[in-house]
Amino acid sequence: MGKPMITVPKPKEIAIAPSLLSADFCKLGAEVEDLTAAGADWLHFDVMDGRFVPNLSIGIPVLSCLRKCTKLPIDVHLMIVEPDSLLGAFAKAGADTLTVQAEACTHLHRTLQNIHALGCRAGVSLNPHTPIDLLEYVIDLMDFVLVMTVNPGFGGQSYIDACTAKIAQIRERYPELPIEVDGGIKFDTISRAAKAGANIFVSGSGVFSQPDYKVAIAQLKKLAADK
Ligand code: DX5
Ligand code: ZN
Repeated sequence: MGKPMITVPKPKEIAIAPSLLSADFCKLGAEVEDLTAAGADWLHFDVMDGRFVPNLSIGIPVLSCLRKCTKLPIDVHLMIVEPDSLLGAFAKAGADTLTVQAEACTHLHRTLQNIHALGCRAGVSLNPHTPIDLLEYVIDLMDFVLVMTVNPGFGGQSYIDACTAKIAQIRERYPELPIEVDGGIKFDTISRAAKAGANIFVSGSGVFSQPDYKVAIAQLKKLAADK
């Protein structure tokens, strides 16, 4: 779509991606300004369709607005069935990454090719119950993996500890692959995911429940770095 592709943080680089799902939508622009000043690396944008997940959230018109008021990378997480027909619209609206749920893609290989053809970074997200084997034949088309550490659909859920082993398994098998984690990432859980090998941390309630976003993001980064 004419714009340069973003750089995805490498496994040794830590990035925090606040999930806008927990933002105050009455003042989304101000929230984004605050997150930018607070040192957010990516803005995580959760799209829900009421079919893949039992909830609805935000979509293309909100993304277009957001694109006009931020230069931060927008990390679009598509929790939707049959994402292929909407990839072009999300890319045009300003997505920097497009992450699809592996479980929602019949032709995952083709979907990832399509994402790259649209000029976006491609992520593959795995639900907590989804094994990592399916990554093997699409790994060359992936810019990163997104390990869900809750069942997708809602903010504010508890981190599922069984997923920590999955992160470690992916790190061992793919040392160069950036690993993003999403769900229940807060001060008391981020070290576990970081120690297992994750390096991009989505945090919704973990950031937005804090009075000072800058302090919260700095603390999350420190905990991830110290492990
Ligand atoms: C869950 C979404 C997450 C969610 C994270 O379905 O994909 O991005 O907003 O929220 P917390 O960090 O509160 O678990
Ligand atoms: Zn998400």
